[in-house]
Amino acid sequence: MTDKYIIQGQRQLHGNVVISGAKNSVLKLMSATLLTEAACKLHNVPNLTDVSVMGNVLQALGRTVSFGDGTLEVQAGTISTCEAPYQLVSKMRASFNVLGSLLGRYGEARVPLPGGCTIGKRGIDQHIKGLELLGAEIKISHGTVTAKGSKLKGANIALDMPSMGATENIILAAVLAEGTTVLSNAAQEPEIQDLIAFLNTMGANIEGGGTSQVVIHGVKKADLHGAEFTVMPDRIEAATFMSAVTGTGGRIIIEKMQANHLVTVMGKLEQIGTQFERLDATTYSVGRLPKNRLKASSYLTTYYPGFPTDLQAPLMPLLAVAEGVSMVTENIYENRFKHVGELNRMGANIQVQNEIAVVTGVAQLSGAEVKAHDLRAGAAMVIASLMAEGHSSVYNLSHLDRGYDAFHLKLQQLGANINRLPLTSIEHQELQEVL
Ligand code: EPU
Repeated sequence: MTDKYIIQGQRQLHGNVVISGAKNSVLKLMSATLLTEAACKLHNVPNLTDVSVMGNVLQALGRTVSFGDGTLEVQAGTISTCEAPYQLVSKMRASFNVLGSLLGRYGEARVPLPGGCTIGKRGIDQHIKGLELLGAEIKISHGTVTAKGSKLKGANIALDMPSMGATENIILAAVLAEGTTVLSNAAQEPEIQDLIAFLNTMGANIEGGGTSQVVIHGVKKADLHGAEFTVMPDRIEAATFMSAVTGTGGRIIIEKMQANHLVTVMGKLEQIGTQFERLDATTYSVGRLPKNRLKASSYLTTYYPGFPTDLQAPLMPLLAVAEGVSMVTENIYENRFKHVGELNRMGANIQVQNEIAVVTGVAQLSGAEVKAHDLRAGAAMVIASLMAEGHSSVYNLSHLDRGYDAFHLKLQQLGANINRLPLTSIEHQELQEVL
């Protein structure tokens, strides 16, 4: 709440940007460390408030965590409680993943119902169904999930939808269950593959990562040991920079990205007007096609490998100025169009009806005072401000701090005119009143 970005738009981006480790992987890897009492070391860890919150969750459970220079260590030791504190879990959805680890390793867990971005209902029924099929007894009362089950047994579990969080919680709980678990209609996101790779490095026996059927052969506690692992690059951050340079023009080199995680998105960006050149396996030169105007395009968000909901907002500023009419359909979350009102304040012409946003391209956006209503909506506001004529202020940066490591510093290095300043006391008061 205490800072804002001041952005002077219409500066082309040039130079190099290095992609950080993936938020939506590292948080689950941190939870997975609870399955062993040995030390674990993670590299390429992004500096995000969500990572600090998850570190605090592990500390509150009794583990010792240190973090610096991209390396996070969870020291050897046992936990002192199976209860995760509400004050931390309510801040971040991913902390709900300690449920599977605590239950799997210690036979019990008490975890408050999760918080996180207010982008939709975000049910937990699939998590509960899966854990119950493994033999856990689950009660939800007074806003807390209590799970008990000292003898979990492998089971056949079919998810109603390929939920990332449910897939992760069920895998974490099944690692130490007796026998084999077959999880069907599992999420196939690259972050799930990262979690499985880390667990296998710890001594777990899991097959099928990246497919819709994950098979977890239970191992014994003694089979699990400490591990050292490097977190995968953040595909959403990489695509955010692709969108930014497409919007502003110019050409940037994106380093340490994994293009095979972004096939659908890069295809869509090419239709809109992005030009990619592969320099090597993890380095791409990205720019805007030399032509007058970006082109309208339509996308609908779905599960991986489809177009990700997390990029629905960050690409929308491009459509806002593209030639023609685009349709954006949000199929994952029912409340993820909060950036639309803000983009319209910047001169965009976007109409939302239920899960569809119809974007009629305008000639250009104009700078304005706007808010980041959630993490990815915040990224959209920054991109729109970089593209707009005049200057913009972007408020509510705490959302952006959750998921983008050194965002404005990386943009500054690319030549953007973006500065982070403290709110004045009047702004502080006004924003408090509105929120
Ligand atoms: N769902 C249910 N019941 C469940 C689980 C999910 O109805 O038991 C529904 C949700 O309400 C939602 C859909 O299924 O409509 C997908 O939810 P999923 O469980 O896949 O999402 P998640 O694990 O809560 C993660 C990411 C999100 C990302 C989604 C979808 C983390 C910490 N979060 O959330 O990331 O949007 O997967 O890919 O990994 C972000 O980074 O900005 C972000 C919100």
